[in-house]
Parts: sequence; C-alpha cells; structure tokens
Amino acid sequence: MAKVQKSYVCNNCGSISTRWAGKCDACNEWNTITEEISEVSVPKGLSGKQKGRLIEFVNLPAGTSCTYPRLLTRISEFDRVTGGGIVPGAAILIGGDPGIGKSTLLLQSVCALTKNNVSCVYISGEESTDQIHMRAIRLGLGNTPVKLAAATNVRDILESVKTSKDKIQLLIIDSIQTMYVDSIDSAPGTVTQVRTSAQEIIRTAKLKGISVVFVGHVTKDGQIAGPRVLEHLVDTVLYFEGDRSHHFRILRAVKNRFGPTDEIGVFEMAEQGLIEVDNPSALFLSQRHEDAAGSAVLAALEGTRPLLVEVQALVAPSSLASPRRSVLGWDNNRLAMIVAVLETRCGIKLSNYDIFLNIAGGIRINEPAADLAVAAALISAISNLPLPANTVFFGEIGLAGEVRQVAQADLRLKESSKLGFERATIPVLQKKKASNKNTVITVNEITHINKLAEILGVNPNREDGSF
Ligand SMILES: Nc1ncnc2c1ncn2[C@@H]1O[C@H](COP(=O)(O)OP(=O)(O)OP(=O)(O)O)[C@@H](O)[C@H]1O
Ligand SMILES: [Mg+2]
Ligand SMILES: [Zn+2]
Repeated sequence: MAKVQKSYVCNNCGSISTRWAGKCDACNEWNTITEEISEVSVPKGLSGKQKGRLIEFVNLPAGTSCTYPRLLTRISEFDRVTGGGIVPGAAILIGGDPGIGKSTLLLQSVCALTKNNVSCVYISGEESTDQIHMRAIRLGLGNTPVKLAAATNVRDILESVKTSKDKIQLLIIDSIQTMYVDSIDSAPGTVTQVRTSAQEIIRTAKLKGISVVFVGHVTKDGQIAGPRVLEHLVDTVLYFEGDRSHHFRILRAVKNRFGPTDEIGVFEMAEQGLIEVDNPSALFLSQRHEDAAGSAVLAALEGTRPLLVEVQALVAPSSLASPRRSVLGWDNNRLAMIVAVLETRCGIKLSNYDIFLNIAGGIRINEPAADLAVAAALISAISNLPLPANTVFFGEIGLAGEVRQVAQADLRLKESSKLGFERATIPVLQKKKASNKNTVITVNEITHINKLAEILGVNPNREDGSF
C-alpha cells in the first residue's frame, strides 16, 4: 500500500531527516534543507512465497587479452584527468561554479571525439540548439556533426538514445539539475529528481555501454541539489575550478574508479575557447619576483604530474588580540601548525604578527609536501630576506620539527631542473636513484626545520626572536 510521507532532504549532500533544521547535520551547510513529499510503498520483506529469479554468474576472463578501448579526445589535458580516456559505459560528473566553462569544455571535447569518429549526443536543458551552435561557431567548431538536442524529459531522451540508428557511444547531459523524470512529482533540481534522473540515465547507459557525462552546478544557496548528491552514483567526479579573475581553469579528478585521483588538467580560457596549457609550471611562475622576501617556489605533485608554484607569505605586526591568519590556496589548519612548529622548535616568534599566505595564480594545493616551502616563505618574510635564487622546496614537517619524506621526489626534481632551477632544499632522499645523475640540480637534504633557518642565513635563536 502506498502512503504519503514527508521528509526533509538536504540539497547539498542529499541526507534525509525527519524534521526541518536550519543547518544540515551531515554537511554543516545552512539553509539547504527542504521539505519533499513522496509516496512510499511499505516494503514487505522477503518472507513472502514468491521466489527470486536466478542471476547468471560469469568468470573473470583468463589472460589479459580483454581490453576495453577508451574514448580519447586527444585533448591531452582532458584525457589525462579521465585516467587515459573515457571508459565505455562510465558515468562522469563535472561540477563547477556558474560560468566557469563547463559547457565550453564539454562541447570542445565532444567535437574532438566526433572528429575521431565517436558517435556523441549533446543534450542541453539550459540552452537552445541555436545557442549551442553559436558557441560552436565561436570556438571554430561550427561544422562538426555533433547530435544536439534541447530536452529535459529523461524518458524522451533515453528512448531517443536507445532507438537511434547509429550506436551512440557518448551522451552529455548539461545539466542534471534541469532533467526530470515524469513519474515523480518533485520539481527539477530537487534531490529526488536529480538522483532519480541520474539513476535512470546511468542504468540505461551501463546496459547499452554508453558513456555519460553529467554537468552538475555547484550551488551555495541550496535552491537546487548540488553535485555531492550524485558523487557516489557515478564512476568519476571531476571539478572544474578556477578563479573568475584569472583566465586559467583547472580540471581536477576527485574520484575516479578508472584512474588516479587528484590528477589535474590545466586550461586557459580564451575567446576561441579553452586552450590546453602544456607547461603549467612556467605559467604559474611567470609573474614571480625572485628578489622579493616571502616568496618560495614549491615543487608540488598533482596526481601524477609535478607542478611548480609560488608560495607567497606576508608577515606584518598586528594590533589585534588574536592576529589574522589568512590563507588562499592552502589549508588553514596546516598553516597554524607550521607557525606553531616554527615558534616552538626554532624560536621564531610569529604570534604578534598577522600572517597572509597565498599560492600564486589561484591554484589550490592539497599536499603536506608544501610544508617546507611555506616555512621557507614565512622565515623569509619575517626576516625580510629573499630566499636564495633558483631554489625549490618540498617536504613535510612533523610536529617535532623533523622534515619528512614525500612521494615522487625524483619527479619533482626533474621538473625543477627542466624549468632551470639549480638547487633544491628537501628531506633526505630514500634511495639515490640513478636517474638523479641526469638532473643538474644541487640537492640540499635537511632533517630538521632548524637547518632551514641556518641555510637561509637567519639566526632564529636570538633571545628576543627578532632578526
Ligand atoms: N565571446 C566570448 N569571448 C570570450 N570568452 C567568452 C565569450 N563568451 C563566453 N566566454 C567565456 O565562457 C564562459 C562561459 O562558459 P560556459 O557557458 O561554458 O560556462 P558554464 O560553466 O557552462 O556556465 P553555466 O554554469 O552558466 O552553464 C564565460 O564565463 C566567459 O569566460
Ligand atoms: Mg553551461
Ligand atoms: Zn547536507
């Protein structure tokens, strides 16, 4: 028997509660909970007489001959992030702020795939086919035979895809928040609609071996359900990030069942669309002033790729009771830890200073390997001395002030050397690899953060903590 039930669903994370609240207990977002009314049929359990149907078991095929060709766009920044191309039947979600360039990226990718004879369908629930065509013309892709449609009814879309004359390999849904399943009463964009639409599309896609890419809007106001509601339904979650004031964009894999996570692709947004950036390190370092105090170069690792970025620190005397700690592009708590370690283990007094930390260029760094570069930038900033030129830093710092190893040191060194850096201050290398001989970089291995201050020529152990 069907019964009408009221439930309260968070539009950000999709968690369901029995009463309304201003703040979601699961994800701590405010004003994201809305009431949804649904008809639920009470489950009867499995105790009834009816027997289940038998399912068929298959063996894993022997040998390694069974390969599934991936769909390659030949846009290498895109292919890398998907883990070497889109797997047939995979469901991918691309999230991102409004206007960041999601539709542009997908239209370019679809056109590239079509040119490689992959049969693609682009369904837009937000723009008319004429508007998409206008964009294609601007991107110089006006003549590509992509199958376009403006539609929002999931039943119609799936029927058209299933009965299409040529076998469709890739389906783009732009965006999932505009789609609706007509058997459900809720409005498009609500958690129930977004989730059911995605489930329906994914089910058909897996059955037919069609890959699907969903666009998901990131919303702060909670009016429509965000991509987090879908994250566990799909195989791959990509985020398209970027600062609107900078012209480059980063595509980041945060979940991937078929490839490494944290892989990034870097693009530049131009009049003709998104252009691949082959050498992002050079781009991120291009506006650096080498002789400025408080600037350190970090050899970071994003996914499988080394990336050089500039860490900037500014330290200014504070009149506040609790001085400001402002961080852009890195972890706030991590900065607090580094500051505490510098104070306690090196005697560098920072508690009376406002501290501003910035990863230049608007990129976000997530790894602890940035610790050493941050510490170097801070020491340089407070002593008002520029760091030695042509030096890169990486290494994790422990609470005792010890400098710890990080993954892929040789990759980081190679990239630094490629960009013309001559010295590297890093943790003690685990094993000397033969490949290191090829790099012309002088490695300065340190075991404790104290050594850093010494190398930089500052004497942190003065009584008053000044320099
Ligand atoms: N004529 C143009 N010249 C240069 N850049 C443009 C032009 N038209 C649009 N753009 C860029 O494209 C961006 C919009 O891209 P796009 O529509 O792909 O974003 P989106 O993420 O799909 O947005 P939405 O969330 O609204 O769907 C704009 O923010 C702008 O930077
Ligand atoms: Mg769009
Ligand atoms: Zn929530």
